[in-house]
Parts: sequence; structure tokens; C-alpha cells
Amino acid sequence: MERRAFVSLIWSFMVLGRFKQTIRQWFGRGQPTIAEGWDRYARRHERDGKLGDEWNEPAAIGIDVPADELVAYLDRTVFGPFFGTCEVLLEIGPGGGRFTTVLLPRCRKLLAADTSANMLSLLKSRFGGDARLTCLHLDGRGLRGIADASVDAAFAYGVFVHLQHWDIYHYLTELRRVLKPGGKALIQHANTFSELGWKRFQKDVPGSLNRHKLPGTFTLMTPEIMAEFVRRAGLALVGCRTDVVRRDAITLIQA
Ligand SMILES: C[S@@+](CC[C@H](N)C(=O)[O-])C[C@H]1O[C@@H](n2cnc3c(N)ncnc32)[C@H](O)[C@@H]1O
Repeated sequence: MERRAFVSLIWSFMVLGRFKQTIRQWFGRGQPTIAEGWDRYARRHERDGKLGDEWNEPAAIGIDVPADELVAYLDRTVFGPFFGTCEVLLEIGPGGGRFTTVLLPRCRKLLAADTSANMLSLLKSRFGGDARLTCLHLDGRGLRGIADASVDAAFAYGVFVHLQHWDIYHYLTELRRVLKPGGKALIQHANTFSELGWKRFQKDVPGSLNRHKLPGTFTLMTPEIMAEFVRRAGLALVGCRTDVVRRDAITLIQA
């Protein structure tokens, strides 16, 4: 392509980008929503097949099994012993279904609830034939559409690490509403002051200065803060595993 044509092409893209940004600002939407961000991520990775495998990084997360055994290992050592099997299991933020594969055999009905429509489409194309799966498109403001006391177990992995404290607390109050009495929830979240958690925090520092929280950054969180949110949301803390995925924490909760 001729150099002038190439420069004017780049210029047009920049003008178009600026125009879209201005329109967003006029309508009070200065930043893309979290769902829009994940929709884009899903579109970019839709041809990769198993979106989510890229997050199986044993060294970065501090787990002692190879990447391709990570999900089965977590299921064997944490999910299975805590959940066993149940009737209705809610997965918040299933993404491409990295953990859905091991959760489906643990229940009769799996409610996959995500704010990204594109993630849900990927999930449907991967597990669409499975009669146990029901997809629910969330609005990012809670678990609207899920009836009170209708869920036996809830699971979230790779979601609460990014949510801000207000959303974390609000989701916990929603879990209190939708869980049956005695129902269980397993939430993986950041553990900022673990050795690997701190490494992750420091990685987010340079790009985050003088900005609102950026997509993909981890929220500052500790097992103690999570325990306090759980208590204030009216739920009971069963325990917190910081020894399995040593960068993060996995909080175990009961209604
Ligand atoms: C990092 S991906 C993790 C996907 C999957 N759980 C895994 O570990 O492979 C985060 C997922 O959470 C979803 N998500 C983000 N914010 C959410 C919210 N407030 N409620 C429900 N899902 C959300 C995203 O759309 C995305 O599918």
C-alpha cells in the first residue's frame, strides 16, 4: 500500500475512534462497561476453542501441577470435597467454561450467569448440547432473575479478583438471597499480601497511576477483608484456602 494511503487509513481510524469516544461521553458512558470489555475479549479468542486455558499458569499462580492438570486438580482437592454433588449449582462468570467442565458433573442443573453475552455464546457453543446447562445474562448489578433460596451451591473463579469492593459485597448479599439455607459458595479472590499476590499487585502499579481501576487489574483483597464482607452480608465463613493456589485465596462460605 502506498505510504500516503496507509497514513490516511490510520488517520481515519483515529478520527473514528475519537468520534466514538465523544459519543460515549455525551451519553455519560466515558469508559466501556466491564461487560463490553469481556465481550471484546471473547470475540478476540473465539477461534481459540477453549477460552480460559491461557490463565492456567502454574508458576504465576503458585500451583504445583502442570497447566493441563490444573482444573482437574482443583476439582479433586477443593471443589469436590466442598461441594460434593447437588441439585442446582450457580456459576458466576463462567467465561469460556474452563471450570464448567468439572462443575457440570457435580449437579443436575448448572446456572451459568455472566455479564458478557459473547462469553455466554461461547459457552453455549461448547456445552450447548448439555441439558443440565442454563445460561443467564446478568446486568452486572446482582443476580436478578434468580429466585430467592433456589440455589444449592455457587461458584466463582477468575471473577472476584477483578470486581471492586462494592460489587464483591453486593454479590455476597445476593448470594445470601439466592442460596438455600445451608447452601454453599466457593469464591476465589485476590490475596494481595501473599508473595505472588504482591508480585501481581506491583505489576499493576505503573499502568494504574492517576487512573480509575483498569480492566484486568486485581482488586486489593485479603482473606480477612473477605471474611468481614461475608459476615456483614449475613453469611457464615467455613474456611479460606491460601495453600492451593498460593497467589490467591479461595473462600468457602455457607448460608
Ligand atoms: C477472567 S474471566 C474468568 C472466566 C472463568 N471463570 C475462568 O476462570 O476461566 C471473567 C468472567 O467473568 C465475567 N464477569 C465479569 N464481571 C462480572 C460480573 N459482575 N458478574 C458476572 N460475571 C462477570 C466476564 O464476562 C468473564 O466471563
